[in-house]
Amino acid sequence: MKFFIDTANLAQIKELNDLGILDGVTTNPSLMAKEGIRGEENIIQHYKTISDLVKGDVSAEVISTDFDGIIAEGKKLAKINSNIIVKVPMIKEGVKAMKWFTDNNIRTNCTLVFSAGQAILAAKAGAKYVSPFIGRIDDSNWDGVQLIEQIANIYAIQGYETEILAASIRSSLHIVQCAEAGADVVTSPLEPILGLLKHPLTDIGLAKFLSDAKGAK
Ligand code: E4P
Repeated sequence: MKFFIDTANLAQIKELNDLGILDGVTTNPSLMAKEGIRGEENIIQHYKTISDLVKGDVSAEVISTDFDGIIAEGKKLAKINSNIIVKVPMIKEGVKAMKWFTDNNIRTNCTLVFSAGQAILAAKAGAKYVSPFIGRIDDSNWDGVQLIEQIANIYAIQGYETEILAASIRSSLHIVQCAEAGADVVTSPLEPILGLLKHPLTDIGLAKFLSDAKGAK
């Protein structure tokens, strides 16, 4: 399972990149706004900085909701760098635009996916990635991880090549459960990823090894 970081924060992207386990980045308009990145020029520049920094795929989201607007925006975003993935919402015009991008060799990430039916449509349109939002599903009393499992089964049966990118991650446990459920990629904020490191027995064991090593000198 690949690890993407779900942020537009450069320090956090660098931190995970330096650890050597970063496979890509996802952003969205809310994450860009959180970093104070506003205005088309600044947004394009920020995507350029991120996509120069990391080797893997970087999702850049369109904000148009009509076919022509999505295509115009997506073409501009795709030109920033070869590792840019155009992120398109799961709406009717979005599906049409993703098919157009597929036919024109522009890779897409279908975002705002909350059901298996939507994931089937994303695969039919040739999306490179499909992003089910598991945390938001959990928030509304459904089981987000179960959706990942369902999509993974359907994609395996049907032979769809679209990669399942589990998004809206809220905890380290979510990451482990997504790996078990068959996600190809998980995109997470920094904290749940760093949380995977934690175990009290590791800390206790290390403290003992270090104190014994001191005593043995
Ligand atoms: C996915 O690509 C989205 O940017 C993100 O995972 C949404 O997460 P949230 O529900 O925490 O906003």
